[in-house]
Amino acid sequence: MDDAFAVDYVAFEDAEIPDGVELESVEAVIIPAEAYTSADYAAAESDRLWGKVWQAACRVEELRNVGDFVTYDIVDESIIVVRTAADRIEAYYNVCQHRGRRLTSGCGHARQFVCKFHGWRWKLNGECSFVNDRKGWDEGVLTADNTRLAAVKADTWGGWVWINMDPDCEPLLDYLEPAASLLGPYELDKMRYRWRQWLVFPCNWKTALEAFNESHHAAITHPQLSKWGATTFYACHAEGKHSWHGPAVSTGPGRPGALNGDMADDAPPAGAADARVTVAESLHAIMDGVNSCTTEIMVRAADRLVDELPAGTPAHEVMAHLTASAERDDAARGVIWPKIDPEHVARAGHDWHVFPNSVILQGITYALCYRSRPNGSDPNSCIFEVYVIERYPEGGEPVTEWVHVPDPFDPRWPEVLQQDFENMPEVQRGMKSRGFKGARPNPRQEIAVTNFHKTLAGYMATGAPRPI
Ligand code: FES
Ligand SMILES: [Fe+2]
Repeated sequence: MDDAFAVDYVAFEDAEIPDGVELESVEAVIIPAEAYTSADYAAAESDRLWGKVWQAACRVEELRNVGDFVTYDIVDESIIVVRTAADRIEAYYNVCQHRGRRLTSGCGHARQFVCKFHGWRWKLNGECSFVNDRKGWDEGVLTADNTRLAAVKADTWGGWVWINMDPDCEPLLDYLEPAASLLGPYELDKMRYRWRQWLVFPCNWKTALEAFNESHHAAITHPQLSKWGATTFYACHAEGKHSWHGPAVSTGPGRPGALNGDMADDAPPAGAADARVTVAESLHAIMDGVNSCTTEIMVRAADRLVDELPAGTPAHEVMAHLTASAERDDAARGVIWPKIDPEHVARAGHDWHVFPNSVILQGITYALCYRSRPNGSDPNSCIFEVYVIERYPEGGEPVTEWVHVPDPFDPRWPEVLQQDFENMPEVQRGMKSRGFKGARPNPRQEIAVTNFHKTLAGYMATGAPRPI
């Protein structure tokens, strides 16, 4: 008998729906497994989805100097994203116009792009500057126009460079709305990488992403988090193509970085845990467990709470003190927190799924982000990236690079992520069973999954969720 279950299922009970939460009527659907497991479906995604949508290709900070480039691979396509001027970023298909060799891989710095097969060359602006043995072509056959690198649309928002292969696509901001407006005040563009890691995972790119666009799994997959407060959230919304849910960790100015639940607004009853200690412990737990969703400044300010506040201080005062201290500490090092109206914080939600393949958990001075991509045309394999961005003083950001950590249980992956990683390949395997009728997301808490597949079906014209 396998005793691997850490969760006491006997003791586990449904969470109460909080007072004041009005449940809207939402549709219960079943999502066909083919969307996750079918090779034909994955092949169709290449044109119908990836060829049509805006995708976060890299962060702007990766293209600091003119000539810095990143190669963004998606399915069988490859795109060069390059800074061509201080205020200009372009994208090109990564293919030589002679006989099709790829020009770049990874990231780097180039004065020009040179094909390693026969030596054709291109300026950063895409203009062909050299054709080997040009005399072999009759005069006028090769023109500036027909030898240019083929352009891909590129634009920036939130500190990311986004690309779109559809020449007739809608503008980036229109595509991102309402996520762009709701996330705008967080000034994600001012954040820089704190750490970034990736691995290849044996599951569909959507199976991976959907381990992170709902928190319905938190109480079971991450039982240790329950100690610090509620892990069940009914605040989940479809926002056009995109969705959010949350908060798994609170991000508003009143409670940045702290776990919800225990942080009640009222004074703790006599004999209750010391809020100064609980808050500090919860921040350490989240930093140790996720290596994100809070900051070192916050944790250090939390460690001072017992010295700076008397015992018995009500939880809401502890949180207000912590927030003010951390904001002051940040200001002293030149990191100024944006002022975000609490009503906006509530409206902006927390854990965003930006269609199709980005997840952003934003906070006042940081964000935890995920990106999931197919690994070539295999429906059972994906490239999964996790990264944290944070506000730093001007010039004080750390030097980071993408770190390949292939083992999902390598200690460089935080504990909470390892728990998520355990589920992903098992879901992929399970969905291939004759006994699986399709995914049945919780209509409210997993609305992001449902909305994802409804939006996806609009692009794919197949595999649509159907009523249960
Ligand atoms: S394939 Fe690139 S120069 Fe020939
Ligand atoms: Fe999780």
